[in-house]
Amino acid sequence: MSTDRTDRDVLEVDGLDAFYGRSHVIHGLDMRVRPGELVALLGRNGAGKTTAFGALMGIVETRGGSIRVAGEEIAGAPTYRRARRGLTLVPSGARVFANLTVEENLAIVRAAGGDEGWTADRVYEVFPKLRDLRASMAGNLSGGERQMLAVGRGLMADPKVLLFDEPSEGLAPVILQEIGRLLGRLKELGLSMVLAEQNHRFALRYADRGYLIEKGQIRHEAPAAELEGSAALQRYLGV
Ligand SMILES: Nc1ncnc2c1ncn2[C@@H]1O[C@H](COP(=O)(O)OP(=O)(O)OP(=O)(O)O)[C@@H](O)[C@H]1O
Ligand SMILES: [Mg+2]
Repeated sequence: MSTDRTDRDVLEVDGLDAFYGRSHVIHGLDMRVRPGELVALLGRNGAGKTTAFGALMGIVETRGGSIRVAGEEIAGAPTYRRARRGLTLVPSGARVFANLTVEENLAIVRAAGGDEGWTADRVYEVFPKLRDLRASMAGNLSGGERQMLAVGRGLMADPKVLLFDEPSEGLAPVILQEIGRLLGRLKELGLSMVLAEQNHRFALRYADRGYLIEKGQIRHEAPAAELEGSAALQRYLGV
């Protein structure tokens, strides 16, 4: 709901509507991400977080609206072009190729992407654990390690904005801390991110700012520090 319009925003979404067939799910999505900012997109089960990401990526049908990445309009473009412009989705469930090694999982993204920026070596520098595991089958990794690999795959696409769908889902508290540290590393690197979560406590620990989404509409926006324990959070997330 922010009406800030600085040309510094790395992601600018205006009035985006998204549909599954005739079912109108996302209504007039407005969203901003500043460079280096970690923005939480918080909402209950079925609120529209995954659909909003799908709409941004061009996986879900949209009508109208505008999506700019670093000032470039990508609404209506095919998914691969959006990815090339720097919009990267790390889907929920840390989906990786179970029957490929860690190294192979990283290499195939590079094959599909550009040829500058992120390399497997750089990913290993950020997540040394992945280097130790590089010959392991991804299917044998723990939940936290798999999430790390999923993020590594995202980085290999040279993202300007990383869309992170519910990384906390189904993970034990100790693994959550690991994911939290991982988010911290990505922030240090200056990455701009949107973190979709039902787990507001987790997300708000790391986010700079948050949007509350309900029934496919952004209902509220505030700095993360103001959201925890707020009436808005209670109203839209029922906590
Ligand atoms: N493939 C689909 N076809 C039709 N409707 C769908 C489809 N996927 C999701 N929906 C509907 O769209 C709405 C938003 O769902 P979405 O998955 O985006 O919510 P979410 O916020 O990601 O929820 P969760 O936290 O459970 O992941 C829901 O009403 C859901 O039933
Ligand atoms: Mg979802």
